[in-house]
Amino acid sequence: MPTARLTIDPHFTIGRVHRRVFGGFVEHLGRHVYDGIHEPGHPTADAEGFRADVVELVKELGVSTIRYPGGNFVSGFRWEDSVGPRDQRPRRLDLAWHSTETNEVGLHEFSSWLDKVDSELMLAVNLGTRGIPEALDLLEYANIPSGTALSEGRIANGRTDAFGVKMWCLGNEMDGPWQLGHRSAEDYGKLASQTAKAMRQLDPSVELVVCGSSSAHMPTFGEWERVVLTHTYEDVDYISCHAYYEEKGGDLASFLASAVDMDRFIETVVATADHVKAVLGSEKTVNISFDEWNVWYLTRFHDVDRIEGIDNWPVAPRLLEDVYSVADAVVFGNLMISLLKHADRVTSASLAQLVNVIAPIMTEPGGPAWRQTTFFPFSITSRLAQGEALELKLDAPTYATAEYGEVPLVDAVATHDAESGRTAVFLVNRSQDEAVTLTVDVSTLGDAALLESHTLSDDDVSARNTLADPERVAPRPNDSVRIEDGELTVTLPPVSWTALSLG
Ligand code: AHR
Repeated sequence: MPTARLTIDPHFTIGRVHRRVFGGFVEHLGRHVYDGIHEPGHPTADAEGFRADVVELVKELGVSTIRYPGGNFVSGFRWEDSVGPRDQRPRRLDLAWHSTETNEVGLHEFSSWLDKVDSELMLAVNLGTRGIPEALDLLEYANIPSGTALSEGRIANGRTDAFGVKMWCLGNEMDGPWQLGHRSAEDYGKLASQTAKAMRQLDPSVELVVCGSSSAHMPTFGEWERVVLTHTYEDVDYISCHAYYEEKGGDLASFLASAVDMDRFIETVVATADHVKAVLGSEKTVNISFDEWNVWYLTRFHDVDRIEGIDNWPVAPRLLEDVYSVADAVVFGNLMISLLKHADRVTSASLAQLVNVIAPIMTEPGGPAWRQTTFFPFSITSRLAQGEALELKLDAPTYATAEYGEVPLVDAVATHDAESGRTAVFLVNRSQDEAVTLTVDVSTLGDAALLESHTLSDDDVSARNTLADPERVAPRPNDSVRIEDGELTVTLPPVSWTALSLG
């Protein structure tokens, strides 16, 4: 059995774990909003039509900030369609997903849903088909208390208090040729800078996210960040990163190492942002909002899901409804480890997405809601990762991958909360056939005792939770954990994700 060693010392910190790293993302896409979170005829629906079973699962997931309403959707969205009397809201074509948007759920309804799930709103403005005036209008509508045309309009629409939205995305994936209003880095950088300045003139307290690359594999990656940040550095707080991973061509070994790619992505964007900072002689630091990340079988979307036809614009079609396996959940858990390993610079992140659409939560119209395999690493990490992320020393064997070269068999991160005295350790074993015995030096943690252990693994790494068998996969306590003389040992099964809580 391969062995690995890890040393934890709470004195060596990477940075504070920001709650916003456990954000989510709700896009008007497929059955996410309609027939997902909102289904008026459902037995659990409340007076506003929101499913109470979904609300409970979202709360259990532990999502902090939720990015809304897109995604590609936002680049053709007219926000004013989605407010005011419902029976007067227009039905519109959503060109991004070739669907019909009924606008039945808009800013007011979504904000009310956020109150139910205890999450913070993060809004994206449309810089695809629109620009500065519409971004300012939305900001005025959302954040000015009263006394102006738009703020009074909000009050007339039933919301007395301002929404007080802090986090704003300056468009979405503007580097992508698929994006409505896609621009060059130069053109987008200028527009984003002007929009940001104007928005801050209206509300200086907003926190702004400028679009980085929609993947580290875009041909413009790196140069896009440099040019966009050169225009916007002093105007924004974050640059975005987006990344999706899938198992391609049966290459599970590379897929299991996806977090290596995420590590490199983050480190490259940090280096580029710091380069711009140096060139400009700036005092401030721009951090990362990793506001779309997940496992996504994108090839399936291109091959199977795509909707076409001038007379075919369905409402809430089944789109991007990936069903996640154990292996997907292990990769997913590892992506969360990567985010935490960069806690000093990744200070906001959004799991894309939340319900039905590449989601940890699935629903059936009129039927149940259930947890996908990916639900568990998110809910457990969000609950246990507190305080500071720690710099670890890890000595693990490596294995060869076609995509990323030689990579460690084990990946790990730990957090320590000085207030509660609790330490959490998150681990993956990427081996497909061998368990790993991991020894952890916990002598600096005093009399550490095991409070919780959770391991997600299965003899069948393709096992999934489905409507027919919604509880097929769940994490189990890891009974192999022993602590003796300042040393913890744990066995990590092949293709597994593990969380330990010590106190
Ligand atoms: O999350 C699905 C889509 O992925 C989003 O709409 C877009 O921003 C990205 O390409």
